[in-house]
Amino acid sequence: MATGLSFEQAPPLSVPYRFFLAAPCFGVLAGLLLAWSGGDALASRWTAQALALTHLIALGFMLQAMCGALLQFIPVAVGGNVWRPRLVAWVVQPLLLVGTLLLVAGWLGAGGTAFAVAVPIFLMAIGVLAVAAGFALWQTPATGMTLWTMRLAISGLVATVLLGSLLAEALARGLVVPFLLLTDIHLAWGLCGWALMLLAAVSYHVVPMFQLTKPYPLWFTRAFGPLLLTLLLAWSAQLLIDAAAWPLSVALALLAVGSVYAVLTLWLQHTRLRKTVDATSLYFRVAMLSLLAFVVSGVAVLMLPALAGDPRAAVWLGVLALVGVFVSAITGMMYKILPFLNWLHLQRLGAPMSAVPNMKKMIPAAAMMGQFRLHVAALALLLLATLQPLLARPAGIAVAASFAWLGWNVLGAARRYRAFKAGMVAAL
Ligand code: HEM
Repeated sequence: MATGLSFEQAPPLSVPYRFFLAAPCFGVLAGLLLAWSGGDALASRWTAQALALTHLIALGFMLQAMCGALLQFIPVAVGGNVWRPRLVAWVVQPLLLVGTLLLVAGWLGAGGTAFAVAVPIFLMAIGVLAVAAGFALWQTPATGMTLWTMRLAISGLVATVLLGSLLAEALARGLVVPFLLLTDIHLAWGLCGWALMLLAAVSYHVVPMFQLTKPYPLWFTRAFGPLLLTLLLAWSAQLLIDAAAWPLSVALALLAVGSVYAVLTLWLQHTRLRKTVDATSLYFRVAMLSLLAFVVSGVAVLMLPALAGDPRAAVWLGVLALVGVFVSAITGMMYKILPFLNWLHLQRLGAPMSAVPNMKKMIPAAAMMGQFRLHVAALALLLLATLQPLLARPAGIAVAASFAWLGWNVLGAARRYRAFKAGMVAAL
């Protein structure tokens, strides 16, 4: 394993695991909701089911998994000291869980009260997380672009949740706000300012380390975060200034920045010396190809009025971004992070290194590859279902099955850790 990691401050194993175990459950719920709703759910981005599905993935799967990774990554990779990580996880994780279920219930019929209750819950959860993570990221003596880009990602999360809360309050209390524009700004912060920003920050560190590539070029890591932030601020300025051509230029620039990250990551994978093919590298390839497909589709939607007027175009883009890019990249990361964490905590038990089981024993390679293939099939079915509504139910079943398999693999990793630990402690 490459260096650049500081293991002393690693949080207890229960911290990342509680997020990683919860995340796939929300993916299963999303698949079941789609299977139950059928093709109508994907008729446009504004159907209640599409909004519920979006947040089951964005908050239920992505945010849970990203919080788990963040609380682990900050101390180990950038040397930040997260204050009382077990307490932070104990507070944040259930709040996120309940908040997400309430929000989803709001769209599925529970109405304004559910939105109104969800808002303070999210504000509390993200407030605690942002203070704990922000303080650790601010105090660490480390330097470098991973750190800066992570700081920007935390700010992006705060902006997303504040905007989402305003929208939810508007739905709950009938506030008069520019709803469509605010939704577009909220989603840009959520997908680019938080999710893509964090993915890039983590990639700078883990792509070279886990996939044995060259590092990302310095010009890219220096420019990516600040450029993304500038473009998001320009995108948000639509609220204040009315300039006709500007949003189009900003959207095209955002797509261009995303495509550079994708091409560069694929190039690094292509030029690495040891071309080991495992679930993580395949998952990352799918994520980056999905990002490129998103860019091409996004440019087409922006340039061709006929496509822009088709309500299914936005759903196609949503599937590519959420399931194609983020679910793929996050799952790929989980398949490296979990075996590594198991190994890390086992080797701290004090037994000779030869007694610590190899990382490859934590999750069987065949189980990860099988789950990867099912995920790709589910993604393909989802994309086809945006064009052919009859495929929505099979797509939902495939999504639920693929997340259930992921959950099973995560649970297996936890059980194997316990078994290995018991064996090693007995032998000490
Ligand atoms: C942190 C990650 C989040 C991401 C990535 C995210 C993403 C999105 C996306 C992509 C949309 C547009 C959906 C569409 O056009 O179909 C949206 C809309 C919305 N989001 Fe979020 N969101 C996040 C968090 C939140 C939170 C925490 C709340 C509430 C507290 C929230 C409330 C809303 C509301 C009310 C809408 C408008 C829905 C409507 O028109 O009924 N979001 N979000």
